[in-house]
Amino acid sequence: MTHPVLTALGLSGTESGTYLGNGEWAKTSDAGILEPVNPTDGEVLARVQASSQDDYDTIVERAQAAFKVWRTTPAPRRGEAVRLCADALRENKDLLGSLVALEMGKSKPEGDGEVQEMIDIGEFAVGLSRQLYGLTMHSERPGHRMYEQWHPLGVVGVISAFNFPVAVWAWNALVAAVCGDITIWKPSPKTPLSAIASIRICNEALKKGGFPDIFFLFNDAGTELAQTFVDDKRIGLISFTGSTKVGRHVGERVARRMGRSLLELGGNNAMIVDQTADMKLAIPAIVFGAVGTAGQRCTTTRRVFIHESIHDDVLAKLVTAYKQVEGKTGDPMDTANLMGPLNSKDGVQAYLDAIEKAKAAGGKVETGGEALDRKGNFVKPTIITGLANDSEVVQTETFAPILYVMKFKTLDEALAMQNDVPQGLSSAIFTESLKNAEAFLSARGSDCGIANVNIGTSGAEIGGAFGGEKETGGGRESGSDAWRAYMRRQTNTINYSDELPLAQGIKFDL
Ligand code: UN1
Repeated sequence: MTHPVLTALGLSGTESGTYLGNGEWAKTSDAGILEPVNPTDGEVLARVQASSQDDYDTIVERAQAAFKVWRTTPAPRRGEAVRLCADALRENKDLLGSLVALEMGKSKPEGDGEVQEMIDIGEFAVGLSRQLYGLTMHSERPGHRMYEQWHPLGVVGVISAFNFPVAVWAWNALVAAVCGDITIWKPSPKTPLSAIASIRICNEALKKGGFPDIFFLFNDAGTELAQTFVDDKRIGLISFTGSTKVGRHVGERVARRMGRSLLELGGNNAMIVDQTADMKLAIPAIVFGAVGTAGQRCTTTRRVFIHESIHDDVLAKLVTAYKQVEGKTGDPMDTANLMGPLNSKDGVQAYLDAIEKAKAAGGKVETGGEALDRKGNFVKPTIITGLANDSEVVQTETFAPILYVMKFKTLDEALAMQNDVPQGLSSAIFTESLKNAEAFLSARGSDCGIANVNIGTSGAEIGGAFGGEKETGGGRESGSDAWRAYMRRQTNTINYSDELPLAQGIKFDL
């Protein structure tokens, strides 16, 4: 039986995974089938027909044609299209949030929160559509004017991950839309239904408003189409969210064809809790940061450094809080639960492997450390102590609710450990000391793309630029001036004089 959430969103037991434009969903049935599984009970939610090479070519050709029209549509008018999408997402927030919870396994409030991020970025993009500013410069030549303009880039590819199956697409697609680009989306094979529903909601809103197609979708049964996508010269930008391993491959391939890539890869986010920290803030921040979305955010708190003078006390408080979360681990659709399952069986295996490695390296499991003996991909939230920051398992991002707790004596030591990982996404300090807070935020402090004081590592707002350094990939998306990645910059010099002076004082008399 089709799940009622799917039915309410107009989805059936078999769905096309390909939006071809012109209101057409492909009828392809011989390019493989995706079977997204409900991580709570292991049942297949629906069958999604993957896209063929022909479908892909049709999409790219139509997207290129659509770009020719969209790039000359005034940006504020493009903003109006995005406003309609944001309105439609707001109307469907409850249902789409439920689908995200159902298919990904995150809690219902987090599923709703993810849709809220889509709405927020939509509204941000509407405002942005009137603020795609370029600079003006003073020319060194008399009677000359210099300025720069930002033009639409072209067709943008978005490859998103299972953990944020809809928000990350919206960060890219809604901003790209006001920038004048057309977006083609390849979602995670684990969460195609959330993608199909999002595209339907937005495309219906666009159609009602009399707007053309600006969002396309394909699903890949294997990795062949994704490879074609990454190598395709017609795709001006590939925005990729996923593992560092795959992201490195994507970045290299796109660079080889001189395309642009925007990489949002792994994190290994740490929190420093110094001796002045306010525990009312620190404890819930650590727990939400580490177990929220069952540890499957790229911003999840994976390491905590606690000052040695308060270490044992904080650890005891954390263990107590973790036991409460363990008791409230279950069906993510039940709002009484705080933690849902991991998205896949592979995720459970990675969790178990990491715990074995941690133990072998001398780690002590303070709480958790095993899968729950029940249907679905449930594991216990876990705290491990006794490991060095440079042990292999601590250096590696495991997408699961495992927290490594370590001690420090001086802030310098804590900062050194926090930065001494390959990744550089998010970081936080809990302190009442102005000096420590400012040192943490200074050039000798956190080396991450996100650095917070007295709030956790996850749950970034859309208004800031989101992304990180080192093996996190260096990309920035969402707010601030991240829109520039979706546009091309053009410098213009205009001569309104009767002379032709050369720059740098060069004389060239004919
Ligand atoms: C991700 O995990 O890929 O900051 C994105 C956060 C969310 C986004 C996470 N707003 O935790």
